[in-house]
Amino acid sequence: FLEFRPIPYGTKRDGELVLNRYSSLVTNGYEFPGAQAMLYAAGIKSQEDMRKKPQVGVASVWWEGNPCNMHLLDLGKTVKEGLEKNGMIGWQFNTIGVSDAITMSNQGMRFSLQSRDIIADSIETTTCAQHHDANISIPGCDKNMPGCIMAMARHNRPSIMIYGGSIKGGYSERLHQPVNISSCFEAHGALMYGKISEADLDDVVEHACPGPGGCGGMYTANTMATAIEAMGLTLPGSSTTPAESPAKMRECLRASEAIRICLERDIKPRDLITRESFENAMVVTMIMGGSTNAVLHFLAMSHTADLDLTIDDFQRVSDKIPYLADLKPSGKYMVADLAEIGGMPSVLKFLIHANLVNGDIPTVTGKTLGENCKSAPSLDPGQDIIRPLSNPIKSSGHIRILKGNLAPGGAVAKITGKEGKVFVGKARVYNGEPALISSLERGEVRPDENTVLCVRYEGPKGGPGMPEQLKTSAVLMGADLRNVALITDGRYSGASHGFIVAGHIVPEAQVGGPIAVLKDGDIVTINAETNQISMSVSDEEIASRLKDWKTPRLKVTRGTLAKYVHLVGDASHGAVLDMF
Ligand code: FES
Repeated sequence: FLEFRPIPYGTKRDGELVLNRYSSLVTNGYEFPGAQAMLYAAGIKSQEDMRKKPQVGVASVWWEGNPCNMHLLDLGKTVKEGLEKNGMIGWQFNTIGVSDAITMSNQGMRFSLQSRDIIADSIETTTCAQHHDANISIPGCDKNMPGCIMAMARHNRPSIMIYGGSIKGGYSERLHQPVNISSCFEAHGALMYGKISEADLDDVVEHACPGPGGCGGMYTANTMATAIEAMGLTLPGSSTTPAESPAKMRECLRASEAIRICLERDIKPRDLITRESFENAMVVTMIMGGSTNAVLHFLAMSHTADLDLTIDDFQRVSDKIPYLADLKPSGKYMVADLAEIGGMPSVLKFLIHANLVNGDIPTVTGKTLGENCKSAPSLDPGQDIIRPLSNPIKSSGHIRILKGNLAPGGAVAKITGKEGKVFVGKARVYNGEPALISSLERGEVRPDENTVLCVRYEGPKGGPGMPEQLKTSAVLMGADLRNVALITDGRYSGASHGFIVAGHIVPEAQVGGPIAVLKDGDIVTINAETNQISMSVSDEEIASRLKDWKTPRLKVTRGTLAKYVHLVGDASHGAVLDMF
């Protein structure tokens, strides 16, 4: 990193602690009059404000074409208002982002994981280039949260994350049932197999997303938000406070009090992003049944903070932590229901009391995580969203790290307990998701024989960008095909449930991993008890097949994805772009 030298912490000016330690470099003295002239033009009102007030970047991952992000500019305005009331200057800016639901065409999804790193780059760039003293980031959709945290770890200036919050639930009058974003994909599968009509599907699609907010189940966005709250990087309750609620507006106003505390006490992201806080994040992910994307993102966040988290840490935590939360996609409830029984502060209070989460870690409020949750209501014994430890959904975590001759560098599986523990089936191999979808549309995957559907050339370099096999998972669920497992060197959706899915296979096909030479008819075994993923092909045969294998041409040779392909590392190290 470029080393930025702020005014040393503890320096006083006119008897007061200097809080504008970075912006002072341009706002004090006569060395940079042009900078000061431009800051006056942008809204600084007086010489006093110019010299003394800390400047806080307010980064909304905003754009208006997606419910997860459409409201984040407005939340940013409220944050700025709070900052100004509290004697600071707020500068709103925004980053690009993409919607994981809208990118889901095979072309669009290639940009999804890449957007994480562009978000991190954007916030790092503006914060450092503009000499901001602190940052408040407001993410919404899946990749936004790790992008914001990676930026914090890079610039390491006092920072807070405000999660944009979850969407309300929808309702289909025609089907007389609650619906959400996953219902759309499942309804598509149901239509393909003649279980519902086109009019039914239309009704589900029209009513699934009734306003702003991220997907409301324990999908990637809520997985990341709850884990990041358990790391102490948000105000209490941020992850479960709904997008459209007075409480979310109050959180935005209150963020200024916390950022002032961080400035006054010099609480920086790397004081909070630690091994201990990652332990909390992994525990919460297992308890909540969170998305497997957490593995990829925590590894990337850890790398950015110069910590040494590995995929094996996830297995260690998964071995000892039960799965308790009956939340969608595997369970019944939405995060909005969790908010009604006390939200994340109550869950953390319960987990700290059970010695599963470390309540002593510091947080952005200046208090410990335990102190933040102390006044939260205790979980009502009558509620059934968070099961008691004596009656878990599963006694160990749902995330398994698999290894074997199909994935010598690791793979990530989600085993909630409903899929069985061992799956053996004949491989059907597809180069890319569209080939599999066409095969499903032709009815080639039969429900009466065990089949392992392998989608390859979808890894970080091959996809490129590890596209999620969102459509496949949903179509399989909608078609109620249960005698299948899905394996891929790409990712699968957090919404996948009901059958074994193993993704993030390393090495990926594009770089000549064994998955590149899997053939139709090979027997594949996925064993979630021994954490193995293997094909019934000898080492000699794999070596011989690889000898005949030729590296396919990269799918992109120009533009942003081409740069991405050249820089990106493997999924078992977070698919980061700066693994030099
Ligand atoms: Fe944005 Fe799900 S698509 S949170």
